Amino acid sequence: MKLFDVYPINDINITHAKGSRVWDDRQNEYLDLYGGHAVISIGHTHPHWVHRIEEQIKKIAFYSNSIKIPIQEELAHTLGEVSGKKEYQLFLCNSGAEANENALKLASFHTGRKKIIAFKKSFHGRTSLAVAATDNPAILAPVNETENIIFLPFNDVAALEETFNTQGHEIAAVIIEGIQGVGGINVADNSFLLSIRKNCNQYGAIYIADSVQCGYGRSGKFFSHDDAGVEADIYSMAKGMGNGFPIGGIIISPALKSKHGMLGTTFGGNHLACAAALAVLEVMKKEDLMSNAEKVGEFLLSSLKSIPSISGVRGKGLMIGFDVPDHLKNLKKDLLFKHKIFTGEAKPNVIRLLPSLALTMEDAAYFIEKLSLAINNYQD
Ligand SMILES: Cc1ncc(COP(=O)(O)O)c(C=O)c1O
Repeated sequence: MKLFDVYPINDINITHAKGSRVWDDRQNEYLDLYGGHAVISIGHTHPHWVHRIEEQIKKIAFYSNSIKIPIQEELAHTLGEVSGKKEYQLFLCNSGAEANENALKLASFHTGRKKIIAFKKSFHGRTSLAVAATDNPAILAPVNETENIIFLPFNDVAALEETFNTQGHEIAAVIIEGIQGVGGINVADNSFLLSIRKNCNQYGAIYIADSVQCGYGRSGKFFSHDDAGVEADIYSMAKGMGNGFPIGGIIISPALKSKHGMLGTTFGGNHLACAAALAVLEVMKKEDLMSNAEKVGEFLLSSLKSIPSISGVRGKGLMIGFDVPDHLKNLKKDLLFKHKIFTGEAKPNVIRLLPSLALTMEDAAYFIEKLSLAINNYQD
């Protein structure tokens, strides 16, 4: 059997990893500033994470949600503490798309409405509603097409106000990434987030903060929306939540009431996934990784801004993007193959940095040195 060929693949076989480093089958060492697409939060194969998973798997890995699973409650408690959202309710699932799917569905159940406001350049996942709310027609199958999504320009308060003024009573939810990831690292203005909150309050719509990529401490705050001082009604999470162990979830404001059967999943919230997620939060607390993300992120942002050949340096914490001019279009490949540094990209010409929140200052400085070298090579 062959693999279904949907991914453009780099010819690299990573065989082991530790912290912010990975090694291939030829013993080449790489610095990982991509984190497998913002997934590696506390560092590859962190010993506490490995230990927690090993201990759990020896006891029980999975049973369905038809029984008590105390480790879910332990996770909810710790998540409430670390995120500061103690009053919220946790629903666990397996991925970012599934988290958004459940968030949108819940908003529709709660309001009895169908319309969703989403934004240009958004990415919310590939399942039916999540992909419908994603601004990329290339990944929308005909069956996903719906009239229920209204796409508005990002950071445009006037367009938002106008849509609420005309259709406010039909809007079930607004879904927004606090920092757009796939769309190229676009940071939502605080005033924009405040306006979403105000309009959702006024019209009884649900504010969904898609925090799958920008959440879980990546921005230096637990949720990037925290910076604006706004509280969303639902936050969706995945990626960094399990440091590579698949787990996703939504946290839900106390104003939204649950009913048996309204949401559900077979695998979501299994013992093993909860153990991995607890390990992540415990390490985030113990190693103060949000402060580290803030500090190392500031260093990277200011260092990048001082490199003249690149422009549009933007982001928060360890979610950073910059524009690469045409004559440097092979920069990402050169960083990977010549300098052994993984970075991410966003089409057409953005390099994205999404490293572990434990990235050290030394590794950040090493990257800046190699990046300058790679750029200078073009000028020679
Ligand atoms: C902001 C955002 N939401 C949702 C998703 C979908 O997550 P998953 O691939 O786990 O379904 C992604 C994935 O890149 C994302 O960046």
